Amino acid sequence: MAFPATRLRRLRKSGVLRGMIRETELTPAHLMLPLFVQLGEGERTPVEAMPGVERLSISQTVAEAGEAQELGIPAVLLFGLPAEKDEQASGAYDDEGVVQLAVRALKEAHPKLVVVTDVCLCAYTSHGHCGVVLEDGTIDNDLSLELLAKTAISHAAAGADAVAPSDMMDGRVGALRSQLDAEGFKDVPIVAYSAKFASSFYGPFREAADSAPAFGDRRSYQMDPANAEEAVREALLDVEEGADVVMVKPALPYLDVVRRVKEATRVPVAAYNVSGEYAMVKAAASAGYIDERGVVLEALTGIRRAGADIVITYHAKEVAEWLRR
Ligand code: PBG
Repeated sequence: MAFPATRLRRLRKSGVLRGMIRETELTPAHLMLPLFVQLGEGERTPVEAMPGVERLSISQTVAEAGEAQELGIPAVLLFGLPAEKDEQASGAYDDEGVVQLAVRALKEAHPKLVVVTDVCLCAYTSHGHCGVVLEDGTIDNDLSLELLAKTAISHAAAGADAVAPSDMMDGRVGALRSQLDAEGFKDVPIVAYSAKFASSFYGPFREAADSAPAFGDRRSYQMDPANAEEAVREALLDVEEGADVVMVKPALPYLDVVRRVKEATRVPVAAYNVSGEYAMVKAAASAGYIDERGVVLEALTGIRRAGADIVITYHAKEVAEWLRR
């Protein structure tokens, strides 16, 4: 007697059923492309630890986003490199800041592109922490919330389609929601980095965004990689505070968290395939140790299968090209 799996396998081989019974689809429509925007002369500055990723001037950001959109990628996620950094992160909420300028340029050139902005202070503070640091080295949560809300409002005013707080301060989603509402941005959704782990996989990003903390680490506000229950609690709390999409980050070491957050919240879930995950694939592929296309498609399918609706990845354009062929 043949087992059902065997019978299906035969049909699958014939190619007839393969598409019909596939449980998970990976298409460019699920992808979001992170972009690093810089001011000034340098049009494109390579990021050493992330081959293929560059910091882009505003005009190059517009060009890059246009290419992504043509490949079927609906959304970009913006990170800014400000002209100057200070203790108050003033570049983050400057209406003429790098992200604000980039959002306006992007929305003018590509009105249908979904422009999401990362809301955090770490690339704008002289010390590289995600919040305001007090004299004793601790973080002032409430003051940080004020500055984060100002940042989100200035992004929304520039035309951002959604804001994505990645700072992990307590109560930030509620603070952003109520202040966005009060300023007339009731329709701007919040994509909350809800389960953001204190991860070594962010290393290359900190080179790209020039945001490595000058002292200490982020363990007082990012999550312990050992905790999945807590991740679910954080996500539920964020939904209660008004998050429209919740995010898990990094992606591959946390697929169980993606699944649990999806099942617990039943809201759209994004998973961030972060810089270190990207760098590992690029390094192994350039050494000839792995087949990049196969590995990336399998990994991203796995992230989708775990329950992610949206996959944020630096491979987005390559994936869209591979899928088109
Ligand atoms: C800012 C932020 C970080 C990332 C996204 N937003 C870095 C960090 O927390 O140090 C990491 C993204 C990546 O590694 O690709 N708080």
